[in-house]
Amino acid sequence: MAFKIKNAPSFLFLFLIFHATLTTTTSSSSGHWVQLQRSIGISAMHMQVMIDNKVVIFDRTDFGPSNISLANNRCRFNPHDMTLKLDCTAHSVLYDPSSNTLRPLTLQSDAWCSSGSLSPDGTLIQTGGFNDGYNKLRTFTPCPNHNQCDWLESPRNLSNSRWYASNQLLPDGTIIIVGGRSSFTYEFVPKNEMSFHFLNFLRLTRDPNRGEENNLYPFLHLLPDGNLFIFANRNSILFDYKNNRVIRDFPVIPGLEKRNYPSTGSSVLLPLNLTGLNGTRLPDAEVMVCGGAFPGAFGLATKFKVFLEASKTCGRLRVTDAEPQWVMEKMPTPRVMPDMVLLPDGNVVILNGAMNGTAGWENAANPALCPVLYRPGSNQGFRFQSLAPANTPRMYHSAAVLLPDGRILVGGSNPHRLYDFRSIYPTELSLDAYYPDYLGPKWEPVRPTIVAVEETNDTASHGRMFSVTFSLRELRTVPGISVSLVAPSFTTHSFGMNQRVLVLDVVAVREVAQFGYKVVARGPPSLAVAPPGYYMLFIVHAGVPSTGVWVQVK
Ligand SMILES: *[C@@H]1O[C@H](CO)[C@@H](O)[C@H](O)[C@H]1NC(C)=O
Ligand SMILES: *[C@@H]1O[C@H](CO)[C@@H](O)[C@H](O)[C@H]1NC(C)=O
Ligand SMILES: *[C@@H]1O[C@H](CO)[C@@H](O)[C@H](O)[C@H]1NC(C)=O
Ligand SMILES: *[C@@H]1O[C@H](CO)[C@@H](O)[C@H](O)[C@H]1NC(C)=O
Ligand SMILES: *[C@@H]1O[C@H](CO)[C@@H](O)[C@H](O)[C@H]1NC(C)=O
Ligand SMILES: *[C@@H]1O[C@H](CO)[C@@H](O)[C@H](O)[C@H]1NC(C)=O
Repeated sequence: MAFKIKNAPSFLFLFLIFHATLTTTTSSSSGHWVQLQRSIGISAMHMQVMIDNKVVIFDRTDFGPSNISLANNRCRFNPHDMTLKLDCTAHSVLYDPSSNTLRPLTLQSDAWCSSGSLSPDGTLIQTGGFNDGYNKLRTFTPCPNHNQCDWLESPRNLSNSRWYASNQLLPDGTIIIVGGRSSFTYEFVPKNEMSFHFLNFLRLTRDPNRGEENNLYPFLHLLPDGNLFIFANRNSILFDYKNNRVIRDFPVIPGLEKRNYPSTGSSVLLPLNLTGLNGTRLPDAEVMVCGGAFPGAFGLATKFKVFLEASKTCGRLRVTDAEPQWVMEKMPTPRVMPDMVLLPDGNVVILNGAMNGTAGWENAANPALCPVLYRPGSNQGFRFQSLAPANTPRMYHSAAVLLPDGRILVGGSNPHRLYDFRSIYPTELSLDAYYPDYLGPKWEPVRPTIVAVEETNDTASHGRMFSVTFSLRELRTVPGISVSLVAPSFTTHSFGMNQRVLVLDVVAVREVAQFGYKVVARGPPSLAVAPPGYYMLFIVHAGVPSTGVWVQVK
């Protein structure tokens, strides 16, 4: 497998973290929050970081006007729109974190509760939605040097309706789309013909009460052996999607809580650590699932506006063990609709959501304002830390993604059918950034700055060697230098699709100049460990990450 550095210079720049004009709300070792925009005109239901560092954000289209107009006084006429057939407002924007500016984009059909993934060349492939969007395939290709690019609707359709489905990029560069409301199937894009495959697991994990499926937006993780981990409701399987074969059923997660929509929890594949494996052994893989809701919570919230306390637990399952067993842990507070964001330093931030209720219209109360840091490598009992509280409740229909500069971009929250700015948890059009502690000024002397990424000609091992030159004012520890690759995820409904962190095998670290160092690392050993595409590469020194630069794995 080759490991290629993205050559366009505009991709390899480092951006400035802006602190000048914006207000810092809190500041301590638990990070701080900054409001970036009071209104971006839409509620950030879905978010994807693109390889030119911009962020595609979109909402649904059929609730009436948004708070931002389409460009050039354009309007969209859609006879299928259920609320506003002639609509001159935008339901998607392209946000540029480096300048803190945005421009409206044009979605033609309804992308509500849809899914997506970057293709290996960095195009956003977005799949499904609602109503006239059930079977739609849309693309957005970045245009770093001009402002013309917009959404394109593909003439090809999906084979099945995909409303609340999940996607995962595969080793061959295709994307698998799994599930969706009333679709107990999966399919692949791109493809040439109408085709889909049944997956009985999706039928078995569906709860029968109306609206209370508890298996939507299944959690998908591509494992190092090339099979797919799928979690829905309380169950999980190891799935060979090539042969439509369930290889094993994992134990049911302990506790009564259900973990998928509308009892929405979240899940990540914990960082795959390739340190010391010499490119010859596959890494262990461990999945983590956090939060959710107890049985009956959805019905009580919908019918009686009684909001049960959410789940407090997280479960970890080392799926590569011979006999995997869930290990349960307790979060500091209960949480439903959490977002879990993997950081370049190998830790996880759990944020957004509520402490009572479930996902769905007006179904939650008691916003969970404090993010929680989770350190997977620490001893049990020392892994969770409460972080600086946010000012803005982010409940149903909110999202969070890691930016290449190490911040977490947080937006959305609209638990209402329409835009409603008067209720207790109003439709949120604002955009915040959470600055983890590692971005604090006290870490500046030990923060690495990437200068160049070069491939070496050593191809003795599976994973090809490459080197990263970086500058650093104060070298603290040589063994404390690591190289991580972070895949840009498509995030909606508390699940970051394709989210993945690889801690690469570092072979050598050399001083090459005063304050200048070169680290030689081994590229990922296979396309199942790192599916093809662009990743943010970070150097982490003494727990402090550089700004990320884009590299291509192919
Ligand atoms: C959105 O537009 C409505 C109607 O013009 C207005 O009442 C509301 O304050 C705006 N909301 C925000 C957050 O800008
Ligand atoms: C895709 O679906 C639309 C209806 O949503 C239909 O008009 C169109 O013909 C379909 N395209 C193909 C290639 O089947
Ligand atoms: C990797 O290589 C080193 C040095 O040759 C060796 O000591 C170590 O055991 C190897 N590790 C694995 C997992 O093969
Ligand atoms: C949340 O749940 C707790 C525990 O059941 C309960 O005491 C509290 O009243 C609930 N809060 C809301 C706002 O419903
Ligand atoms: C990766 O594994 C190495 C060797 O076991 C360990 O020292 C390091 O802390 C791990 N890194 C992460 C981010 O888990
Ligand atoms: C790279 O190739 C050059 C020229 O063939 C050779 O001299 C050098 O030793 C090679 N370097 C590595 C790291 O293999």
